[in-house]
Amino acid sequence: MIEIGQVTENIFLKRNIFKITIELPQISRRSTAGQFCEIKVNDGLSPLLRRPFSINAINGKEVSFLVEVKGTGTEMLSRTRPGEALNVLGPLGKGFNTDGDFKIAVLLAGGIGVAPFPFLTQELKGKKKILSFLGSRTKAQIVSDGLENVLVATDDGSTGFKGTVVQLMEKEIKNLETSELKIFACGPNQMFKSLKELTTKYRLDCEVSTESNMACGIGLCQGCAIKSAASEGYFLVCKDGPVFNINDVEF
Ligand SMILES: Cc1cc2nc3c(=O)[nH]c(=O)nc-3n(C[C@H](O)[C@H](O)[C@H](O)COP(=O)(O)OP(=O)(O)OC[C@H]3O[C@@H](n4cnc5c(N)ncnc54)[C@H](O)[C@@H]3O)c2cc1C
Ligand code: FES
Repeated sequence: MIEIGQVTENIFLKRNIFKITIELPQISRRSTAGQFCEIKVNDGLSPLLRRPFSINAINGKEVSFLVEVKGTGTEMLSRTRPGEALNVLGPLGKGFNTDGDFKIAVLLAGGIGVAPFPFLTQELKGKKKILSFLGSRTKAQIVSDGLENVLVATDDGSTGFKGTVVQLMEKEIKNLETSELKIFACGPNQMFKSLKELTTKYRLDCEVSTESNMACGIGLCQGCAIKSAASEGYFLVCKDGPVFNINDVEF
């Protein structure tokens, strides 16, 4: 559905990263963790296409998004002020599956891949034990608001473990009962590749929230296809995903 909502807050969190909160009573009621919205970043024709963002958190009628400035669209969004109206399409796609008898939810984020995890934490809190692993190039880009039991990995070692977030997770989960874990991951494809080696080695249940360039967001343009691991076929990230079992997709 399309909903036009007023921006209630736009705060600068870390280098190039903003949190935008919009009053969206309909979308907030229908959303589940892992779903996303497509936001029209301005009223004009440029950029023409909406931009996709994971739902970061829900608070009553308000929906928050974490936005990392990458190009024109995200730069415009970062300048939005409280009181302005934004046109939002959502909630879109299929979110995380939090059912099942796993006991420990392992949330694994690379960079801005942390975006859907505060909402997932809201859903899992009180039901499962949560361990959160955040990976980033450097300390200045770590955003851990709304997460529980956070461990950090940085490429440059400026805080936490020096190395990749997947290496950190392997170190930490070695002593846990693997059948009790379910991994929820979001980040770049390079991270998913090394994660898949690990989930295969330890036979871990794992869902990943994937990204691809998007246009329509509703399964019409075929612009967001990613390759299926099982066949010559493709999945549409916007409609079949963005969340998939890690074994179903080729990275
Ligand atoms: C399902 C989904 C959820 C997403 N959730 C978030 C989120 O919560 N927070 C967030 O900051 N970003 C998220 N993204 C990525 C975000 O949509 C893009 O960064 C944004 O559309 C770029 O728009 P732009 O106009 O600023 O950049 P453009 O001017 O369009 O491009 C600038 C640069 O960003 C790259 N880029 C464009 N689209 C993507 C993309 N989909 N993934 C990675 N790089 C891209 C381009 O290749 C180019 O190098 C998500 C993407 C998808 C598909
Ligand atoms: S973005 Fe158009 S089909 Fe997915």
